[in-house]
Amino acid sequence: MNLETIHPQEPARLNLAQLLTPLVELKNLAKLTGVDRILLKRDDLTGLEMSGNKIRKLEYVVADALAQGADTLVTHGGCQSNHCRATAAVGARLGLRVRMILRSDDPTPPADGNLFLDQLFGAEVSYHPADAYRAELSDLVASAMEKERSNGRTPYFFPVGASVPFGSWGYIRCLAELAKQLDPAEPVDLYCATSSGGTQVGLMLGRVLMGCDNWRIFGVPVSDDVDYFHTSLRELERATVEQFQLDLSPDQTPIDLIDGFIGEGYAIPYPAAVDTIRLLGRSEGIVLDPSYTSKGMTGMLATMKQQPSERIAVYIHTGGSFGLFARRDLIAEDT
Ligand SMILES: Cc1ncc(COP(=O)(O)O)c(C=O)c1O
Repeated sequence: MNLETIHPQEPARLNLAQLLTPLVELKNLAKLTGVDRILLKRDDLTGLEMSGNKIRKLEYVVADALAQGADTLVTHGGCQSNHCRATAAVGARLGLRVRMILRSDDPTPPADGNLFLDQLFGAEVSYHPADAYRAELSDLVASAMEKERSNGRTPYFFPVGASVPFGSWGYIRCLAELAKQLDPAEPVDLYCATSSGGTQVGLMLGRVLMGCDNWRIFGVPVSDDVDYFHTSLRELERATVEQFQLDLSPDQTPIDLIDGFIGEGYAIPYPAAVDTIRLLGRSEGIVLDPSYTSKGMTGMLATMKQQPSERIAVYIHTGGSFGLFARRDLIAEDT
């Protein structure tokens, strides 16, 4: 399967992930949940220590950083950020310094899950209480960049989730893989968890660029409300289209969102999502995470039950499994 280049406007890419990822059928899950057929795009297997969706985006973002002569990556996220952990791993592999601004009300959070790996990979980490992180993020970033420059380094900044135009190409490429693994002419429904938005936007753009007109893309918001995502996804799409001069318009890229599966808020698990983690563990030996993939899968299964259809359902497993270890208390008591 030759996917050397996927589009004439595709920017330079580093070869960091294990691509292409498998597309597998979840027969046990389908039987247990009474739905027809479920396929899983195993983007949790994009690479051992770098599992998940972020590595696809970083292939393009870090290629741009290197092209600009950067020797230091600066980014931010929550204390258990999968994005920051993936950035730390990429930095270690490429010999780049990584500096991360993490949101944590605990000034000495336990080194577990992703944070443990950030430290293992040698990232420089600072913690900021949620209020200060929200209110002062741009100052925190500016001062981190300044510190790096004053130490003679060349820092390159990208925001949480690497959901910037270069990052969008990660999921344009994933869609190109799926277009080879499935028939572009068949009716396919793709589902993913949506937070910083780059995964969904990449899939939306890829759907048009790869000519999969009969496919639909559904995002399950896990951090903000639907109104927020209608604006933020469109904004990232517009920026990507402009920066890479892609020949498409918003009326070709409908935004489909499945509301009602955030629970009380971002990264706060709820019983139905925890049940989904158990269900996938026991029926398929597959690990979902408590903040993203469990909520996304819960939304997909509910939608498939409410609106049975003949279309092929594919869940994009965006990884994040390390986050489950920091929340082992959720699963422990009665498994
Ligand atoms: C495991 C996992 N799944 C899904 C998402 C959501 O992807 P995106 O930020 O591209 O919307 C993220 C990151 O935010 C993630 O870490």
